[in-house]
Amino acid sequence: MKHIQFTFSTNANDIDTLILPVNDQGNLHNAVAELPNQSALTELVKQLHESNDFTGKLASTLLLVQPANIEVQRVLLVGIGDFEKLTVKGYLSALNSAASALDYSGATHVLNHLISSPPSQHDLTWAVYHNTQALQHSFYDYSHESRGEHSPKEPKLEQVSYPCESSDEITQAAQQGQASAIGMALTQELANMPSNFCTPTFLAETAIELGKDYGYDINILDRKEMIEMGMGSFMSVAQGGDTPPKMICLSYQGGEKNQAPIALVGKGVTFDTGGISLKPGAAMDEMKYDMGGAATVLGVFKALGELKPNINVVGVIPATENMPSGNAIKPGDVVTSLSGQTIEILNTDAEGRLILCDALTYTQQTYQPSKIIDMATLTGACIVALGHHVSAILGNNQALIDQLIQAGDTTYDRFWQLPLGEEWDEQLKSNFADMANIGGRAGGTITAAQFLARFTKEIDWAHLDIAGTAWVSGSKKGATGRPVASLVQYLLNEVKHG
Ligand code: BES
Ligand code: MN
Ligand code: ZN
Repeated sequence: MKHIQFTFSTNANDIDTLILPVNDQGNLHNAVAELPNQSALTELVKQLHESNDFTGKLASTLLLVQPANIEVQRVLLVGIGDFEKLTVKGYLSALNSAASALDYSGATHVLNHLISSPPSQHDLTWAVYHNTQALQHSFYDYSHESRGEHSPKEPKLEQVSYPCESSDEITQAAQQGQASAIGMALTQELANMPSNFCTPTFLAETAIELGKDYGYDINILDRKEMIEMGMGSFMSVAQGGDTPPKMICLSYQGGEKNQAPIALVGKGVTFDTGGISLKPGAAMDEMKYDMGGAATVLGVFKALGELKPNINVVGVIPATENMPSGNAIKPGDVVTSLSGQTIEILNTDAEGRLILCDALTYTQQTYQPSKIIDMATLTGACIVALGHHVSAILGNNQALIDQLIQAGDTTYDRFWQLPLGEEWDEQLKSNFADMANIGGRAGGTITAAQFLARFTKEIDWAHLDIAGTAWVSGSKKGATGRPVASLVQYLLNEVKHG
């Protein structure tokens, strides 16, 4: 993905496009720094407001080319509505409108004054982060060769200048915004790819590529090794498919050698048919996104490679298809997990937890991490409970959960906590094994997490259910790149606070 150049300057020249926030009263936002041609611009914006040609409505845009008496090729006006009522969501929608308006213009070097009008409670650093993320992210365009005739986007934008003094904090915010957007683009590309291309082997190859580009240690386990190691739960899901399963492990060493890493574990079901507990046909195509957790881990590693923070991180991805076949596991089958605990598989469609439990045990045994965060498109119940705007977070350490929630609020890629407790754990009781893999209809997201909790008793652990957030359905069907940005924010906060 082409990288935008970002610069900070209060008197940028070499600009072909000026981006200005305008409120619904027809005024340039009052925090906009001194502009050349200020009075001509103010007058022009007033006239456009009076003639109803630009009302300043939130997220509206108007591109002016060669405006009279103004010494710049283009001016892009961006509506911020009633500034007093500007919300984070509103501001971010204005940024996205600005980005798409630029996309349809010849702009290459822009001076972006939108950083001067963040919603209340947010500062310049926050604004620089989000402007950078939005502009860089607007370059993403699904372009896998299987798409056919589609000619990929060729963005013209080269350079974005921000009218402010640079500082370490501001520069880092821009770098983080850019790296997060680039990481999200990888996550989206993988999740958008159909499962006949995005196989466990392809995910492994992607990890190997990242390893080459950024110097990560990569270790891939195959079916035979995993059977020998005793991953009976993961392998029971994989046995229904002919496509080889993989355990994909990435290790980033940016911190002290002896510092325990933070582990990210991502569900990598490259297609979830449900297995013998076959899913209904409607929208089954969307189950190609069931590797959204895995794609998130790879996206975070992409961003880590760009940012090189002083921290150690490992990523572990159990990857497989969930297929019905003559070899597939059947309801009632009992398997032994790597931890030694036995599981009665009452529903083969609750496969995510079956592959994650062995990955969680393997991660603890192999890397002795300080904490584990797992992410998974784990339950349809999560969409019922929370919809599509926040991911669910559950775990056994409130400080870790709070830090993740805070990171999610900053990036506006949010988490909402659901409870855990022995009442829900009881729903997993089995007459034939240590536990069942389902807990009934009630509290489905909680009982799924409760299952994972049985494999993370000895470690600080948080679980992210991203079933509702990793993709959008409908006419804009596709992957969102969530929650890469929040995890990058969380990891960078860890560097600062230790
Ligand atoms: N991958 C699905 C969860 C899912 C459903 C994600 C819809 C996104 C959209 C998961 O493997 C699954 O099938 N879960 C079952 C669990 C049930 C059998 C306890 C579900 O949610 O129905
Ligand atoms: Mn399933
Ligand atoms: Zn699934």
